[in-house]
Amino acid sequence: MPQPDLPPKLEGKRLVLGVSGGIAAYKACDLASRLVKDKARVTAVLTHGAEQFVTPYVFEALTGQPCFTENFRRIKPGETAYPHIDLALEADAIVVAPATASLIARLAAGMADELLATLLLTARCPVVVCPAMNVQMWEHAATQRNIKTLTQYGYRILGPASGALACGMQGAGRMVEPADIHEFVRKLFDGGASTNFPGSGAKGRVERKGQKREKRTKRGKRGKEGEQKTT
Ligand SMILES: Cc1cc2nc3c(=O)[nH]c(=O)nc-3n(C[C@H](O)[C@H](O)[C@H](O)COP(=O)(O)O)c2cc1C
Repeated sequence: MPQPDLPPKLEGKRLVLGVSGGIAAYKACDLASRLVKDKARVTAVLTHGAEQFVTPYVFEALTGQPCFTENFRRIKPGETAYPHIDLALEADAIVVAPATASLIARLAAGMADELLATLLLTARCPVVVCPAMNVQMWEHAATQRNIKTLTQYGYRILGPASGALACGMQGAGRMVEPADIHEFVRKLFDGGASTNFPGSGAKGRVERKGQKREKRTKRGKRGKEGEQKTT
């Protein structure tokens, strides 16, 4: 479907695009491209599962930013040893698309077993989670309980959509289309990007020593929720 010509709305916004290892990972490339065309600075973070489906090079080529995959890596001069902290602190929003059953379970359990999960546990900006999986995985009581937990923590759950699934089954489990995720992200910023802080309870964001960003002081206000149906 041709994309309508929308005025750039994400100019200056720093977005982290988290990609986990589902068949819909290839659609995250389209999403990255749309966000970049909307003038966002997009940094992709891939799980090792995602790397089985898509490569970091695609995201680096599409975003012009380094793509991160590793918690533990040797750094070059000028690079950060703490991408899980720096990316989380800098991000205006994080979108996880697709979010696998496994990643959702790890988030619900508060696990920090690889870079994306660690970064998500650190983050205090709005986080949009776009589940994508087989319908039976989605309907399993464990996944439903995990989704409920994420909702309680303040994550925005966008989708899944229903229809034909890659595995040949029909039902809920399709990742929401990149154009709709893009639109949802745009709406996040309609009321000012600062909304809730996943998992932070009353504490919210803790500043790092020496860190001063005007926009951080605005955090804590509730922005407008997008019109997309979220759970
Ligand atoms: C061909 C194929 C497609 C898969 N698609 C999905 C999927 O759409 N959603 C999902 O939750 N898991 C899917 N899986 C299973 C995940 O890849 C697996 O649970 C993996 O450990 C997820 O890792 P991650 O969550 O760290 O990325 C698929 C596996 C294979 C082999």
